[in-house]
Amino acid sequence: MTQIAVIGAGTMGAGIAQVALMSGCEVILVDANKDVLDKAHSRISNNFVSLREKGKMDIEQSVMFLEKLHCTDKIEACGQASLVIEAIVENLEIKKNLFNQLESIVSADCILASNTSSLSITSIAGTTKNPGRVIGIHFFNPANLMKLVEVIPAIQTDLTVVNKVMDLIRSWNKITVLAKDTPGFIVNRIARPYYSEAIRIFEEGIADIATIDLAMTKIAGFKMGPFTLMDFIGHDVNYAVTESVWTACYYEPRYRPSFTQKRLVEAGFLGKKSGRGFYNYAEGAEHPKADEDESLLENIANRILVMLFNEAADALHFGIATRDDIETAMTTGVNYPKGLLAWAEEWGIDNCIAKMEELHAYYQEPRYRCSPGLRGAV
Ligand SMILES: NC(=O)c1ccc[n+]([C@@H]2O[C@H](COP(=O)([O-])OP(=O)(O)OC[C@H]3O[C@@H](n4cnc5c(N)ncnc54)[C@H](O)[C@@H]3O)[C@@H](O)[C@H]2O)c1
Repeated sequence: MTQIAVIGAGTMGAGIAQVALMSGCEVILVDANKDVLDKAHSRISNNFVSLREKGKMDIEQSVMFLEKLHCTDKIEACGQASLVIEAIVENLEIKKNLFNQLESIVSADCILASNTSSLSITSIAGTTKNPGRVIGIHFFNPANLMKLVEVIPAIQTDLTVVNKVMDLIRSWNKITVLAKDTPGFIVNRIARPYYSEAIRIFEEGIADIATIDLAMTKIAGFKMGPFTLMDFIGHDVNYAVTESVWTACYYEPRYRPSFTQKRLVEAGFLGKKSGRGFYNYAEGAEHPKADEDESLLENIANRILVMLFNEAADALHFGIATRDDIETAMTTGVNYPKGLLAWAEEWGIDNCIAKMEELHAYYQEPRYRCSPGLRGAV
C-alpha cells in the first residue's frame, strides 16, 4: 500500500497521517477546514523537527516525508488511495454520508476505515454498497505515540480485508488487537470502572479525590489516579464516552454516567485544558491533601481493581476479544501496570468473586453483580 488518505485533520487525523508518512506511505490529508489543514501540517513538521533534535530522524527523511504529505479540502483527491481512514466528527449520520460519498470516488478495492471511538462499524458498513471493505481502525491519542491500535471488523467485513489491515498497521510499528464490534470495543469498555467506581466512592463520601488518586497510584501502581486522569482526558470527552457506552449497551447499570461528572461538564470545568476540573489548575491553587491511612487506601484500590477484573472477565466471557488481546489492550492502550486477567488470578479468582459478592450483597445493585466470566474462571 503506498497511498493512504486520511479524512479529518484534527487531533487524530494529523497523528494518523504522521504515522503513515513515517512508514513510507504517501498521504492525502483531507479536511473541510483549511485552517485545520494548515495547523495539521505545522504540527506534523514540528514533530519532525523535535524528532530530528532527538536524533531520531535525519533532515533528508523529514524532507522526504513532508514531500509525501498532500493537504487538501477536496475529498476527490482520495481517488488513488488504497486505504482511506476517516477521522472526522463523532456523528453517525455525518460518517455515513462521508462513506457514501467516498464509494463514488475511490477504486473498487480500496479499503474504507473509520477511527470512531464508539460508533457501530457495522452500521457504517451497512450504508455502503460494498460493506465487505469497511472496517474500524481505532488509534489512541496521540496516534503518533500510542502503540495500540484496535482493529474492528464489521459483521460484513471480508476476512481478506481484516488480514490486510492487521498486516499494514503492524508494518506501521503498531501493536494490533482484534475487537468485536461492540460499544467501546476493548479499552473504552473495560476501563469504565476506573473512572466510574472512583467517582462512586467519592460520591458516597468514603474518600476525597486526592485519597482515591493516591490509592490507585501508591497501592495499585497506576501512573495516574482516576481523577487526575479524567482531568487530563477532559470531562467533555470522558463523559461522552461513558454516556455513549451506557446508552449503546441498552442502559447497562455498570456503565451509568454520574451526575458529578455531568455537572463538571455543565460548568465548563473540563479539566486541565480549562484550568479546572476535579482539581484546580490555577496558579497558586492548593492541591488537596490525601488521607494516607493504609487500610483506607487498600480498601479503595481493591474495590476499583475488582470492578476492573470483573469487567475484563466479562469482556472475555462475551467474546469481545481474546485473553491475550484484552491483556495487551489494557497494558499498551491505557498503560495499566498489569494485564487485568492475570492480575485477577494473582489475587485468586475466589477472592475476586468473594469481593464482588460482598459489594453486591451490600449495595443490592446489578452494577455489582459478579460476571459469569469471573465465576467460570475458577
Ligand atoms: N480525540 C481522541 O482522543 C480520539 C481517540 C480515538 C478516536 N477518536 C475518534 O476520531 C475521530 C476524530 O476525532 P478528533 O478528536 O480527531 O476530532 P477533531 O474535532 O479534532 O477533528 C475532526 C476534524 O474533522 C473535520 N471534518 C468534519 N467533518 C468533515 C467532513 N465531512 N469532511 C472532511 N473533514 C471533516 C473537522 O474540520 C475537524 O478538523 C472521532 O470519530 C473520534 O471519536 C478520537
